[in-house]
Amino acid sequence: MSPDPGVRRILLVGLMGSGKSTVGRMLAEALGWRFEDFDERIEAAEGLSISEIFELRGEAHFRGLEEKVGTELLGRDDVVLGSGGGWASVEGRLAGIPGGTVSIWLHVSPGEAVRRAMNDGPKRPLLEVEDPVRAAADLLARRERAYGEAQWVVDTDGRSPEDVTARILALLERHPAKTETR
Ligand code: S3P
Repeated sequence: MSPDPGVRRILLVGLMGSGKSTVGRMLAEALGWRFEDFDERIEAAEGLSISEIFELRGEAHFRGLEEKVGTELLGRDDVVLGSGGGWASVEGRLAGIPGGTVSIWLHVSPGEAVRRAMNDGPKRPLLEVEDPVRAAADLLARRERAYGEAQWVVDTDGRSPEDVTARILALLERHPAKTETR
């Protein structure tokens, strides 16, 4: 499908394991757009994995890189963007994204987030703790206000990536004035 011409990019936000990368790739394919993943960009630029960046350079350094990559990718057109879970957690960040961007919060419960993240390989140092579900719940509690600045929220619990993608495509079709829709 072709989205409304006023829509130039889609930005997915949400907790680790919410499906940003998987759904983002499917959406990009359906739209004939590119998919860009913030974390992959950061890893390529640094020549290190996310875990190594946290370990060797610290989280603050990672957050600086994440901010820069976000600004750069949000300047592109015809892209679906998978942000890292922390990018949109800065209050006011979503309110400041460029026009023509549809922002979507992929909501996931902490338990489901951890189940999915565990199958994904080790790029989530924030969940490498004794009680990862608790850690994910704490992150969600701290971040939900900021994530809630997204234009749309799609619940992903109990839904396949295909189903979530289809729901987003249906939303895009139903709301031609998407940039104004919450
Ligand atoms: C993080 C989420 C991760 C990655 C890093 C920190 C976070 O990305 O950027 O481990 O703070 O929520 P995903 O949301 O793609 O897993």
